[in-house]
Amino acid sequence: MQPVRGTRDLLPEDNRAFRLIDATAWNAAQLYGFEELNTPMFEFTHVFQKTLGETSDIVGKEMYTFLDRGNESLTLRPEGTAGIARSFISEGMAQNLPLKFYYVGPMFRYERPQKGRYRQFHQVGVESLGSDNPQADIEVLLLGHRILEQLKIIDSDPSKNKCQVEINTIGDIESRKVYRNTLVEYLRDYESQLSADSKIRLEKNPMRILDSKDDGDKKIVAGAPRMAASLNQASVDFFGQITEALATLKIPFVRNENLVRGLDYYCHTVFEFTSTHLGAQGTILAGGRYDGLIEMMGGPKVPGVGWAFGMERIALLLQPEMTAKTKRVAAVICAEESAFVYCMGLAEKIRGAGFTVEQPSSGNMGKKFKRADKVGAEYAIIVGSSEMAKKSVSLKNLKTGEQKEVLEAELLKALV
Ligand code: HAM
Repeated sequence: MQPVRGTRDLLPEDNRAFRLIDATAWNAAQLYGFEELNTPMFEFTHVFQKTLGETSDIVGKEMYTFLDRGNESLTLRPEGTAGIARSFISEGMAQNLPLKFYYVGPMFRYERPQKGRYRQFHQVGVESLGSDNPQADIEVLLLGHRILEQLKIIDSDPSKNKCQVEINTIGDIESRKVYRNTLVEYLRDYESQLSADSKIRLEKNPMRILDSKDDGDKKIVAGAPRMAASLNQASVDFFGQITEALATLKIPFVRNENLVRGLDYYCHTVFEFTSTHLGAQGTILAGGRYDGLIEMMGGPKVPGVGWAFGMERIALLLQPEMTAKTKRVAAVICAEESAFVYCMGLAEKIRGAGFTVEQPSSGNMGKKFKRADKVGAEYAIIVGSSEMAKKSVSLKNLKTGEQKEVLEAELLKALV
């Protein structure tokens, strides 16, 4: 019995990491006023189709799309932004702007599995809706930065820092039209040398050629006209406010002019937090501004900006001690069968004091002590009929081996 290719079981150690990541991100997001909104794991296919872009990799080859028994075309969500936009429209939230949402959950893409890339993976994301001011872009960038700092992935010491912030602007619609024409004109001269994928992109989505991973394409792209030269003043000003603020706030970043992102809904700001510690799948957090998305879906003209990070990729970068088990464990060992229920009552009290309590139920005393050892118990609390009669327990410190009799009423105090 094998799991489906590209899916994996989240084992206890994975879940310890995921809980830490989610809790850290959620606590930080709350400090900026984000509220949690979780949308269904599947939507009508059209929610994703046009919004992410017919020529995007996701829509072109990665969606899990199927007809349900009622003949509706449904798709397992490949990302969270389109679902949040759909929810904004169907829940009629336009009266309450601005709105800031946080989400967490599984996403599904039919990609070639490798380290850090799965067909079912998990994202934490934030979406800030209703502000066309660069302040919103800066705020979500600061939030992403704060989370990765708290998870010790970003460090002010360059030798410990595992991540860099890359940002770019792809300009407003007008600037992009101008650039598209300039770029296509340049690329036409090299058309025969482009990779097969990029030949198709040249017709459908030429800007994607800029972030092609193909070595031949990269050489051609190196000589391409720069997007910055096609930006109108409004786009330059918008981006300038963001980079200036990041510099003032001492958030280190690099401008990557070839960063365009793979989804169609973006405009103006795009960014990726990347790591060289993860091999080929180096992008851990990514996002940008999407001012036309909600309108394109039939809703009001509401701008937005946000990001998502892959929990699996973040988990790979955590320091092991951050996800080590930290709970305190005690074992209640019942010396005689007749004391068993009494011991269970005792275990309840000890749990009330915050201990994880294990009560080995089978085997002789030797076996029970072995179990206590295996679960990492600090203490064994041993109860037989004589202890029951005296309302006391034998308390053994499993680290030092020291054992003493303690009145039951004094037990919690003795567990220091
Ligand atoms: P994305 O770049 O497609 O953006 O994905 C965001 C992050 O999800 C990636 O940087 C990566 O860490 C993780 N990720 C993506 N695909 C996989 C995979 N197959 N396996 C493991 N991790 C993966 C979005 O999804 C946008 N919705 C982000 C956004 C939010 N933009 C604005 N708001």
